[in-house]
Amino acid sequence: MTVRPESGVTMPSTGMLDEARRRDEVDPLAEYAREFATDGAIHLNGNSLGPPRGSLAAELDRVVTGQWAPRQVQAWFQDGWLDLPRTVGDKLGSLLGAGPGQVLVAGETTSTTLFNVLTAACRLRPDRPVLLIEGESFPTDLYIADSVARLLDRELVVETRTGFDEYLRDNGTQVAVALAAPVDFRTGERRELRPITALCHAVGALSVWDLSHATGVLPVDLDANAVDLAVGCGYKYLGGGPGAPAFTYVPTRLQSTVDFPLSGWHGHAKPFAMAQTFIPADDINQARTGTPPLLSLVGLNHALAPLIEVGIHELHRRSKDLSGFFLECLADRRPELLHQLASPEVADRRGGHLALRVPQVNKVESALADNGVLVDARPPDLIRFAFAPLYVTHEQVAQAVDVLCRAVEGL
Ligand SMILES: Cc1ncc(COP(=O)(O)O)c(C=O)c1O
Repeated sequence: MTVRPESGVTMPSTGMLDEARRRDEVDPLAEYAREFATDGAIHLNGNSLGPPRGSLAAELDRVVTGQWAPRQVQAWFQDGWLDLPRTVGDKLGSLLGAGPGQVLVAGETTSTTLFNVLTAACRLRPDRPVLLIEGESFPTDLYIADSVARLLDRELVVETRTGFDEYLRDNGTQVAVALAAPVDFRTGERRELRPITALCHAVGALSVWDLSHATGVLPVDLDANAVDLAVGCGYKYLGGGPGAPAFTYVPTRLQSTVDFPLSGWHGHAKPFAMAQTFIPADDINQARTGTPPLLSLVGLNHALAPLIEVGIHELHRRSKDLSGFFLECLADRRPELLHQLASPEVADRRGGHLALRVPQVNKVESALADNGVLVDARPPDLIRFAFAPLYVTHEQVAQAVDVLCRAVEGL
């Protein structure tokens, strides 16, 4: 799928295209786009699934033919496989503002990881009846929180994003755990971690964060914000690949008291002692469950390298530049569409994506895809554009806006 003028796809106005090229030329991060295997498509859905780096296949081949094939089970010990959940976790920690030994990639889905973390968090507040969650949360968070509440005989309180803070202020002493997200998965609206976490602590509750839409694009400073527990996806802005494993954050200060329900053998203090009784590891390894999906971990590990090289603040800066330019192009081409913006206009009040309200979202999504622009729709009326910092360019943004305008004109 290639976006080329000669393939019938129109080009944006020369002015915006020149401006796009000028901005890419002066931004050293624009060079990274060459590293990604995008097949010429414009990937504005990195908040769902980022494209692979071109070198991923060679990296997987290195592990499969260079480690797995010759050493079989011994590779777990000889090639660092057994430590990979923690090795990758530590690398990820640098993007999350988490010091070493506090982030782990156990090899589970975000949903399973959230179940593990929410249950453990509730267990740390046994006398408090309420599990609080934002109503705008991603559905799996609502479903898992509901299940945890039923399992532990707690009350699930679902509040709107604004009602959430108010509930904490008015009823906080009843709250065991408050689950929130720094970026609204629909609108991209940002929520600061520090005030909510501080509010939780003031009333004696624990703060749990789903970082899925922030990781790799927005600084979250977990240690500095004194976050209690957090989870996040590996396949969105991190680009770990389809179904890439999720991560868990457990700060050192909670590692001696936290009690995860998924007490699998890899979380044991001595997994290979094959003991009958479970004794959790006394460090972040206690968040492990069973044998991790090694090749998926290798994929995630490989994806992290350029992100870490660039650093979270530059990644954030570039993403804001790109989304800001998208709005400029829209203002140039079809300013009335700006009224359909469902995201905050101010760049610092949003995460890595923008959402527009359009009629017939699925039709618009398909029209964009037919022209090599990958976005995703969130029915009934939202279409999301994600600005992953390393493989999206200003030039692509200008092209995408042009394709979008034509798709909307064609409705
Ligand atoms: C915010 C958020 N949390 C959790 C999930 C679920 O992740 P998984 O499918 O890995 O369980 C998603 C998936 O898109 C998500 O966007």
